[in-house]
Amino acid sequence: MKPTDKIYIAGMNGMVGSAIHRKLKGMGFSAIVGPSSTELDLRDQTFTNHFFAQEKPDYVFMAAARVGGILANDTHKASFLYDNLMIQSNVIHASYQSGVKKLLFLGSSCIYPKLAPQPLKEESLLTGSLEPTNEPYAIAKIAGIKLCDTYRHQYGSNFISVMPCNLYGPNDRFDLQNSHVLPALIKKIHAAKIEHHPKVEIWGTGSPLRELMHVDDLANACVHMMDHYNGPGFMNAGSGQEISIRDLASLISSIVGFDGDFIFDPTKPDGTPRKILDSSRLHQLGWKPAISLEKGIREVYEHFLFSSS
Ligand SMILES: NC(=O)c1ccc[n+]([C@@H]2O[C@H](COP(=O)([O-])OP(=O)(O)OC[C@H]3O[C@@H](n4cnc5c(N)ncnc54)[C@H](OP(=O)(O)O)[C@@H]3O)[C@@H](O)[C@H]2O)c1
Repeated sequence: MKPTDKIYIAGMNGMVGSAIHRKLKGMGFSAIVGPSSTELDLRDQTFTNHFFAQEKPDYVFMAAARVGGILANDTHKASFLYDNLMIQSNVIHASYQSGVKKLLFLGSSCIYPKLAPQPLKEESLLTGSLEPTNEPYAIAKIAGIKLCDTYRHQYGSNFISVMPCNLYGPNDRFDLQNSHVLPALIKKIHAAKIEHHPKVEIWGTGSPLRELMHVDDLANACVHMMDHYNGPGFMNAGSGQEISIRDLASLISSIVGFDGDFIFDPTKPDGTPRKILDSSRLHQLGWKPAISLEKGIREVYEHFLFSSS
């Protein structure tokens, strides 16, 4: 990519899209477009085609998706499948039709079978059953990878994919209906501190292990892949920093200054027991994460305090 290239970041207002935007702006890119979902609903093929015909982007970062935590995924299964299939199919097909030079599709580590060997390697895709709570979302993401691969195979389109681990950072969502584990814990633990509650209730047993990465590290990975990777399939992008939900709650408590207890609710789903990516392929390509979990959470908590003040 050159700073004069026209870039479309689908989902530019979201956590990942805004991080890619910050990164590209910092590199001197100025021709960046990224309308909101209100301005352009990517589920609509006619509007999507019209947008591509008008803007003619050179490069596309595909970070638009219906995204949510375990509760939202479990409750709105049809919407997670339908919206994501429509959004990504429309963007990928319009990118092919309008002659986009390269597209990067953002998937997620939920594409892997629930009991695949850990750390998860790219070759474990489609080797077993998915985690039931987010199966529709995972199936949409797997379809996205396959769309990129089949367009490469049939039409020669340079469409690539990346599968990040759990992410956190600026512009994350803190509403408890839709949030991921880290913002949900920050919000609950902060509220308990302010309201002087002695206990915080946490979904599940607290034992699942999760790999968390700051979204700025992912933005670096996305730009690195756009510049250096031109192959089929996809690459994992993880931090290698693995922590149990229980230890994460303790780390957040120490940052927030909450000294109460946690009550774990084992009647609520835990999700996949362990999820850590083997990111060695991306490391071999020359990318490495740089932000420690503690530093990243401190920054996010400051951001949360600032935006809620
Ligand atoms: N967050 C994570 O932990 C994580 C982990 C792994 C992978 N990922 C992947 O990264 C990508 C982005 O995730 P994120 O965390 O940045 O999500 P996010 O903050 O919810 O952002 C999603 C973006 O998608 C846009 N969008 C949703 N529906 C749309 C529609 N119908 N038409 C047009 N735009 C639409 C939203 O636009 P508006 O804001 O304008 O409504 C928003 O900007 C997703 O593919 C996700 O699977 C995320």
